[in-house]
Amino acid sequence: MNEKEIKISFAEYKTLDELTEADRELAHAAMDAMNNAYAPYSHFHVGAAVRMSNGEIVSGSNQENAAFPSGLCAERTAMFAASYRFPDKDMRSIAIAGGVYGRLAEQPATPCGACRQVMAQYQTKAGKPMSVIMVGAKRIWKFERVDDILPLIFDSI
Ligand code: THU
Repeated sequence: MNEKEIKISFAEYKTLDELTEADRELAHAAMDAMNNAYAPYSHFHVGAAVRMSNGEIVSGSNQENAAFPSGLCAERTAMFAASYRFPDKDMRSIAIAGGVYGRLAEQPATPCGACRQVMAQYQTKAGKPMSVIMVGAKRIWKFERVDDILPLIFDSI
């Protein structure tokens, strides 16, 4: 038996000012998108913004529904919209922000497993890393590739 280890590293920033201009713009787009959340059940507003290879930003927010599984997270709303709008472009980065009643949470917004899987597939499609920026009021995390938040990605078919 060999014991194996998976290590991940990521950057932590204290303020948005420490980000590159492009990442800061993306983080702001994610925070702005929180305002368009439809979350009458959880009251947790999430915004996501995707940076495309042509520089365009496509945003999305969580959309809830009384039949709970019918709703969708902000990240997938943004990624599906981005893929629809720019089917031939790559997704280079995604920023996520969230908080109760639209007030940005102190801790970074961490995407759910299903959204990570969808990120993974768009990253595979691009053949290039897609970075993930999780925005919180107290700290911001940046992961350089989706693998860092979803080790052993399923992409066997
Ligand atoms: N939500 C997101 O939009 N993204 C995530 O990564 C986690 C959860 C939404 C789904 C639901 O509308 C609300 O947050 C509470 O789970």
